[in-house]
Amino acid sequence: MTDIIKERRSIRRFTDQAVEQEKLDEIIEAARWAPSWGNLQCCEIVIVQKAEKKKKLAELLSAKNPASKVMENGPLVIAVCGRPEKSGYYKGKQQTRYQHWFMYDLGIVSQNICLKAHELGLGSVMVGSFDHPKVEELLNVPAGCELVALIPIGYPDHSPSPPKRKEVEDFVHYDKF
Ligand SMILES: Cc1cc2nc3c(=O)[nH]c(=O)nc-3n(C[C@H](O)[C@H](O)[C@H](O)COP(=O)(O)O)c2cc1C
Repeated sequence: MTDIIKERRSIRRFTDQAVEQEKLDEIIEAARWAPSWGNLQCCEIVIVQKAEKKKKLAELLSAKNPASKVMENGPLVIAVCGRPEKSGYYKGKQQTRYQHWFMYDLGIVSQNICLKAHELGLGSVMVGSFDHPKVEELLNVPAGCELVALIPIGYPDHSPSPPKRKEVEDFVHYDKF
């Protein structure tokens, strides 16, 4: 587990090799078992494989987004969507000070997807900077559901060195902040 967590990298260059359906199914299963607020499972995912759709996704990323090429050229993209009014709400009433627990749920789903992909020898990158309404339109995401992240997946064509992380003493506090 520690190796998988530490060795997963954001991969922004893939080979031409297709992702086997069995591996995709395993990734979907990992997404399915993510914990969620009240087990309400607000997540919905769209698997994008059609070339013209991936091209349009790439065009809708923020300018100079380093993931543009991999979005277009990779074998598939998982669009991670969720229903904001499901997570953190009970009978339509917000349960805590946070309106957006669905973002938390989708983050966990995304991490499950990327860790599982890495375990299977695949690369991935979470992408959050794009024109969300236009991508929702492109992928036919219904009202009441929001598309938060795009995750291209494929066989890695490079192995980037790990970006630095904070030292433990720079973010861990015992007993008081
Ligand atoms: C919520 C979120 C949004 C991100 N959005 C983008 C993005 O739009 N484009 C991109 O190339 N990488 C994106 N990344 C990847 C980060 O840049 C990357 O995780 C970070 O630099 C650490 O590198 P590592 O994943 O290899 O450990 C995003 C990551 C997260 C968690």
